[in-house]
Amino acid sequence: MKSSRRSFLEAGLGLPVLLGAAPSPAATSQAAETTGSKDSSFDPWVEIHRENLRHNVKEISRRVASRPILAVIKNNGYGMGVANVARLLEPQPEIFGFAVVKLHEAISLRDAGIRKPILLLGPFDEKNLEDAVARSVMPMVYTPLGQAIDNIAAKTQKPVPLHICVDTGIGRVGVPYYQAAPLVRDLAARKSVQIQGTMMTFTEDPDFDKEQLRRFNETCASFEKEGISLGKRHAASSFSLFQHPHAFFDMVRPGMAIYGIYSENEFRRASIMDLRPAISLKARVIYAKKLRPGDSAGYNRAYVAKDDVWVATLPVGHADGWPRTAPKGAKVRINGDLYPVIASVSASHCIVEIGREERVKIGDVATFFDTQPGSRPEDLSEACGASVYDLTMHLSPLLPRRFV
Ligand SMILES: Cc1ncc(COP(=O)(O)O)c(C=O)c1O
Repeated sequence: MKSSRRSFLEAGLGLPVLLGAAPSPAATSQAAETTGSKDSSFDPWVEIHRENLRHNVKEISRRVASRPILAVIKNNGYGMGVANVARLLEPQPEIFGFAVVKLHEAISLRDAGIRKPILLLGPFDEKNLEDAVARSVMPMVYTPLGQAIDNIAAKTQKPVPLHICVDTGIGRVGVPYYQAAPLVRDLAARKSVQIQGTMMTFTEDPDFDKEQLRRFNETCASFEKEGISLGKRHAASSFSLFQHPHAFFDMVRPGMAIYGIYSENEFRRASIMDLRPAISLKARVIYAKKLRPGDSAGYNRAYVAKDDVWVATLPVGHADGWPRTAPKGAKVRINGDLYPVIASVSASHCIVEIGREERVKIGDVATFFDTQPGSRPEDLSEACGASVYDLTMHLSPLLPRRFV
């Protein structure tokens, strides 16, 4: 099943990070000893694979000839926990800094002790801007904010570093390239402003991307001719790492590739980068039983057994971030074998078909997606039409994150 890469991305998770620093399994069990059970040991959890994260950063760095990487960790660090990811990535020399959309994520990174540059891709008002600057968070600017920046710089007695966003055709945010001159000249002329970067975003329509690239190059060249320093130019998300080597510029700006997931399934077969998933979703079987012919499973009797068949119930539903489309073809790995998701996905449960034999039992670990071929996020995405962005970004921030 072909899923659109961006189908639901724009509605991405923007919930607060409740788990700041996720406890290690050791810390979790220690806490359980002193305070009693908080989570059921059957509850779903998210695993973060440290070594794979490191590997992916090195792989991206190799691909972009050691250009700096501005790691996009928005939407709760693509499901891993924004502070978790930043703490793991920060020590890597390839990582220049971080980009998030929500101001609260930027602030929580500073609260977590993150020191590398942070670029705020999302909106802010004047008070927000002052708070952001006070925490050394760089705004992405595309409206005439010169006076507001002057006011802040007058208080801090320091120029405000920022990145300018130019819209070359995505039509989302950014000053339209053909109207950029007055804004860029105004900002460049102010002592209060330090332009540290200039950026654009591709639509990821391969033909139109070429036109966007042409527009960006031409716009930047005209400012440089006027003697305006644009800082680091950047445009490349994960898609462009594969598709647009001419758009690597001075820095790249990937998200999904860092987490080891191919944003398009065709990239998996392209041998351009070896990406290893850095995130898994797991839980334990809570019930296994044999259905008789005619017995049903799920709301609306979505599944009716034709013969005697074993099914297993798993404590993972759409409220945890498991897609409602999973019964269209998703498989869950239990004891090394893949079993199809059946019936309907409810808020906190789903059901898998085991077959004629009782092959799983209560407490067995079930893997919804992980690092193995056949159950990677891309496999699941292909099987049931959920975009890989939904699989990670829609994971409930309430699920425990464990480092492996
Ligand atoms: C402005 C911007 N840059 C970079 C990215 C990273 O994209 P990806 O996760 O596809 O690499 C995103 C995410 O959608 C984005 O909005």
